[in-house]
Amino acid sequence: MKAIILIGYMCVGKTTVGRHIAKHLGCQFYDLDWYIEERYRKKVPEIFAESGEEKFRDLERRMLHEVAEFENVVLSCGGGTPCFFDNIDYMNEVGTTIYMQATADVILEHFKLSKSERPLLKGKSADELRNFVETQLEARAPFYEKAQHSVQVDVLHDAKRVNDLALQIIEQLQREPAAQQ
Ligand code: S3P
Repeated sequence: MKAIILIGYMCVGKTTVGRHIAKHLGCQFYDLDWYIEERYRKKVPEIFAESGEEKFRDLERRMLHEVAEFENVVLSCGGGTPCFFDNIDYMNEVGTTIYMQATADVILEHFKLSKSERPLLKGKSADELRNFVETQLEARAPFYEKAQHSVQVDVLHDAKRVNDLALQIIEQLQREPAAQQ
């Protein structure tokens, strides 16, 4: 099986849901940010702070090319991964891509619950944050929409909703194995 690659905006639930999908399918789970952190022995916010976003995007692309061709894995990407270079076309070529689509309201709700530090969202007032998320979501949508599959994500309040969404994605992939946009 080609890698199942989850894409979508920050805080949409790619990592949480991806882990469940991997567990159900008996596959290994990879999170691209964690993979970068492990390889470079640095946290993503540190890479942003020390080397800047451009350098991060370069590393991200290189690491994507290391993991996306693994077989029988579920890979959760960073929110920006499909939006740089030819990453989305590459992902579509080597894996099965799923866009986890959510509104800015859902993303902001998840952000409140999230403990991970996200350099692009940090230090903003509530208004600035909403504005940033809405604008960036719109700018990134054309990249995300190139995915082969998409699912709508509502607020993932509890483990049951996470698991139900994971099962829904698995079912969708089995129903439309070769769907291509
Ligand atoms: C980013 C998303 C983050 C991480 C980095 C940049 C983005 O991953 O890769 O902070 O540009 O959207 P998550 O989507 O897992 O938060």
